[in-house]
Amino acid sequence: MSVNPAQPAGADGADKLKMPDDTATPGANDDSKSGSKGGSKSGSSLDTVLGRLVVEQGLATNDEVQKAIEQRRGLDDPKGKSLAQVLIESDYITERQLTRLKSQLEAERSGQQIPGYRVLGKLGAGAMATVFKAKQLSLDRLVAIKVLPRKFSQNAEFIARFYAEGRIAAQLNHPNIVQAYDVGQAGEFHYFVMEYVEGATVYDQIVRSKRFKESEAIDIIIQVAEALEHAHAKGLIHRDVKPKNIMMTPQGVAKLADMGLARAVSDKEAAESEAGKAYGTPYYISPEQIRGEKNIGPSADIYSLGATLYHMVTGSVPFDGKSPSAVMHKHLKADLVPADHVNPKLSAGVGQVIDLMMSKSPQGRYQNCTDLLTDLRNIRRGEQPVIARPTVEVQDLTQLAQAEASAQGEIPEDKTRQPSVFGHPLVQGLIVLVILSIVLNVIQVLWLG
Ligand SMILES: Nc1ncnc2c1ncn2[C@@H]1O[C@H](COP(=O)(O)OP(=O)(O)OP(=O)(O)O)[C@@H](O)[C@H]1O
Ligand SMILES: [Mg+2]
Repeated sequence: MSVNPAQPAGADGADKLKMPDDTATPGANDDSKSGSKGGSKSGSSLDTVLGRLVVEQGLATNDEVQKAIEQRRGLDDPKGKSLAQVLIESDYITERQLTRLKSQLEAERSGQQIPGYRVLGKLGAGAMATVFKAKQLSLDRLVAIKVLPRKFSQNAEFIARFYAEGRIAAQLNHPNIVQAYDVGQAGEFHYFVMEYVEGATVYDQIVRSKRFKESEAIDIIIQVAEALEHAHAKGLIHRDVKPKNIMMTPQGVAKLADMGLARAVSDKEAAESEAGKAYGTPYYISPEQIRGEKNIGPSADIYSLGATLYHMVTGSVPFDGKSPSAVMHKHLKADLVPADHVNPKLSAGVGQVIDLMMSKSPQGRYQNCTDLLTDLRNIRRGEQPVIARPTVEVQDLTQLAQAEASAQGEIPEDKTRQPSVFGHPLVQGLIVLVILSIVLNVIQVLWLG
């Protein structure tokens, strides 16, 4: 494990890496295929990646892209016209689509130039970066490399934070955290090398099967809470716990990804930039992050983990809305529909635990993952949580107080009884006067008679 900030491009002079120039199969993104055919003999790897992206995104079929490639080859001067131009002229893609593809292309090409690694293929892309599967040549092991887009390279403050947090992340060592290996720079691009996790994210599994069984979800959340307990002890707050950042290995081990990855923008801005995405950050963000508070503590991660658990066991996000700001408003103000009301198959215990994890105020939540784990392990054993308590209605509270009082031998005051007039001091005074006057009269009669 090493953190290697600002390693210059081509520092070791080796392996200037390129995506395969396999023009015969522009749609191929099969890792084994792409990994085994390195090199760019014709120098048109740009076209190769463009062709693959066009097919991957369903803008044209493999055959159509092939036709365009052949059409270009058949030109008198093939170098005079790019594949992109041929695709536009043949109405396969529009200028606008090309602009979007170009930025993806740039990210893809950046992954080809990291010395010491051979890129095998693309694993995915998020709002901020593109992730590649690669082989670390020195250790002959598979890794995942996250490459930041060029626009972040100009932000010196962000880059400094990226390396600083990378160094802290590399100190973490936990079976449920995606291990950070290296941070570096190749040309204009900054990258983050980490453990490669074979498998799907929890988000992928929600999309596939709508929701998890309670026991399975709790098993995963326990592992992530253990990962967070470890990170929090080292002073690192994740800030972006969500189903997309939890990866599952085929053996059922949960791995929390993106631990310690600095953000170029504030949490709120990051959340807003997710506009239009089906499962964006605002679904899991804590109220204090929305408010832009400076001191974001462990309980922010506990809130996001609660929102993740809610989604896993109910199949719905805790708060939904037409826009990211509508969702964020609900995180701040709206009451949560208890998870066990949305999915009546759930135990009451899991509903109570989620309620406590997702309390609006950070002080109202579990204060640390150790407490949270106590309750999660209890409900996993089929027992009641000991820290989270059922929400009791006011009426129930009154009945509870009366029951407790009578159990202790106290007679509760009956407010429904009307007070007697004989209890009034004036009336009592009058009665004394009447009795006195009767006694005096009797004495007088006896004395005189
Ligand atoms: N260490 C890894 N091993 C294998 N695949 C990974 C790894 N890290 C990320 N991926 C894949 O790359 C995809 C993109 O990851 P990235 O962190 O860039 O975005 P995200 O978390 O999906 O979304 P967002 O940008 O909203 O945070 C992930 O969804 C996952 O499929
Ligand atoms: Mg991620």
